[in-house]
Amino acid sequence: MQKKTAKIVVVGSINMDLVVKSEHIPIAGETVTGQEFVMIPGGKGANQAVAAARLGAQVEMVGCVGGDSFGKQMLEQLSNEGVGTSYVITESQQTTGVALIQVQDGENRITVVPGANASVTPEHVENAREVFKGADILLVQLEIPQETVMRAVQLAKRHGLKVILNPAPAADLPAEIWPFVDLVTPNETEAAILTAGQAITSDQSDILNELRSLTKTDVIITQGEKGVSYHINGSSGSFPAYRVHVMDTTAAGDSFNAALAVWHGEGLPLEQSIEFAAKVGALTVSRFGAQTSLPTRQEVELFEGT
Ligand code: RIB
Repeated sequence: MQKKTAKIVVVGSINMDLVVKSEHIPIAGETVTGQEFVMIPGGKGANQAVAAARLGAQVEMVGCVGGDSFGKQMLEQLSNEGVGTSYVITESQQTTGVALIQVQDGENRITVVPGANASVTPEHVENAREVFKGADILLVQLEIPQETVMRAVQLAKRHGLKVILNPAPAADLPAEIWPFVDLVTPNETEAAILTAGQAITSDQSDILNELRSLTKTDVIITQGEKGVSYHINGSSGSFPAYRVHVMDTTAAGDSFNAALAVWHGEGLPLEQSIEFAAKVGALTVSRFGAQTSLPTRQEVELFEGT
């Protein structure tokens, strides 16, 4: 039987990643020589949109770029990847979001300058309501203003979409958001920040329970090479990470979230979608860069992994 195509709306950031690879990350006042510099399309929102499109979904992006050359490149990149850009606005007075990424031994340190991403307003989302109609899933992150995230989740619920909130980068969120969220997907740091003020413990199952009782949503906590812990439909569990050589972890969380949305949007239960998301995350960390590392559907289907 022909599988259903997942229809996904992504409301989020669009960045150009300026990436430096070096053996040593400088401390304050120090200058070091790096090995490589590359510019790679990124941004948590755009990464999730491109990842979902490569995995076979129909994707619409809602976001903003600046009136500079990065803005043009990012718009071109999104449409070359088959992502709908009717609601990606060019703010001519702004610069496109930029992420300065330092990579050392597969670990990264990222500084984001939001630029035009700060101009993604609630009105902008409201104006994009057409793309919410008939869609399956909203994917949203925290690299755009929180009031915009709030409007996006409300609009999604009004139109019957399932809402996946990837709370990255880490931030405290108002309790009012949770009734509009179905699944929240923090990493360990983000989970600790979301539950701050509650009794914090280093035990992941405690944090999972804290988060579950705080949000009343389904929860998946990603833990890098330790895999994921989840609480879905009233049951808790875990899934191990596939073992791969880690080249660069940039966009691993983005591709994991996109994969969850794609397989779940096609009708697979969330618990089973985790297996595909873990494969997609593993393929992403085994390559360099953000959108350069996102796998295609065929690559995921061929990946056996251990
Ligand atoms: O999640 C990875 C992304 O975070 C990078 O592409 C960078 O743009 C930052 O937003």
